[in-house]
Amino acid sequence: FADGPLKGRHILVTSGPTHEPIDPVRYIANRSSGAQGTAIAAALRDLGARVSFVTGPADVPPPEGVDVIRVQTAREMLEAVRAALPADAAVMAAAVADWRVANASGAKMKKDGTGRAPALEFAENPDILRTVCEAPDRPALVVGFAAETGDAQGDVVAHATAKRARKGCDWILANDVSPATGIMGGSENAVTLIYAEGAESWPRLTKTETARRLAARIADALT
Ligand code: C5P
Repeated sequence: FADGPLKGRHILVTSGPTHEPIDPVRYIANRSSGAQGTAIAAALRDLGARVSFVTGPADVPPPEGVDVIRVQTAREMLEAVRAALPADAAVMAAAVADWRVANASGAKMKKDGTGRAPALEFAENPDILRTVCEAPDRPALVVGFAAETGDAQGDVVAHATAKRARKGCDWILANDVSPATGIMGGSENAVTLIYAEGAESWPRLTKTETARRLAARIADALT
């Protein structure tokens, strides 16, 4: 491990989308690239942390020098996260699918010649962030993300502030992922860090720079 303020610390990072199967060859997913979570894991590693990196099927490769646990679905992610605890801190950057297909087929679905389309039913996925916050071995610092599509930045921060309270995490990094921002899948991010006492907006930075700032804040909080 690198020498740094997080030497001897174990930090869990979730990243990427989840894939929720419809049948063995089809799935529901979202546009998360995993870029921000990957950058955060690398930045924490660079400050000396031992990082457990639980990742869905991301577009970008995982960083070197971290413990990579690959999953597909939200339920698999929850199990991997539970297995990775205890940790000193958790950064939950994954874009977990809110719903899975409840009536997923074990065999590839086929057209039946009638012109009728299949009807998918959905079931809510477990909330991994909230589960971690309520766990008996809750990390001392839990950081969530709030990706919102707000009309105004104020809406994004208001929603994220409510989310921080609802989920029971210590910090929320809120960002506007409206398509016009180019953030989802892009190389830059513009976030607001929300904590119990208030909030601060960071300038638009590369995801690498955003990750370094967050890692430095985590190091401050843990030492
Ligand atoms: O509720 P929402 O998805 O907007 O909350 C976002 C935050 O919650 C992110 O930190 C995300 O990783 C986490 N989350 C989770 N499990 C879910 C849904 C979201 O851990 N099922």
